[in-house]
Amino acid sequence: MSKIVRFSVSVEDELLDRFDEFCRRERFATRSEAVRQLIRNQLTENAWASDTSEVVGTLTLVYDHHRAQLSDRLTEVQHEHTDLVVSTLHTHLTHDLCLEVIVLRGPAGQLQQIASQLKGLKGIHKGELVMASGEMSGEDHGH
Ligand code: NI
Repeated sequence: MSKIVRFSVSVEDELLDRFDEFCRRERFATRSEAVRQLIRNQLTENAWASDTSEVVGTLTLVYDHHRAQLSDRLTEVQHEHTDLVVSTLHTHLTHDLCLEVIVLRGPAGQLQQIASQLKGLKGIHKGELVMASGEMSGEDHGH
């Protein structure tokens, strides 16, 4: 069992207000809970980045399709990585917004890279990559 250690952090009051708002919205019981989860998420993400193990993932993007060339660029990047992109689901959310869910499979580090590249395009409102190990341990489920 790990020992719990306390440490203090200096932060701008405005940033702390935003963090408290985040904690309320995400229903964290305490700030400590929220900080622990954020640290874990970030460390996991960094560990994946240099990882060559095979994983599957989904990248969810919400974007403004009126943004010049964005749709074309999204398609181009996916065509450049047909080894990683399994399929894409596109939904026209509202008059302005599109939702795209891209199913990816390949080395974890490469999935991170293509996800960063896509999320970083101008006009993307939200981008989130969720990865899972492609080889689940445990019993064979028979196919
Ligand atoms: Ni659309």
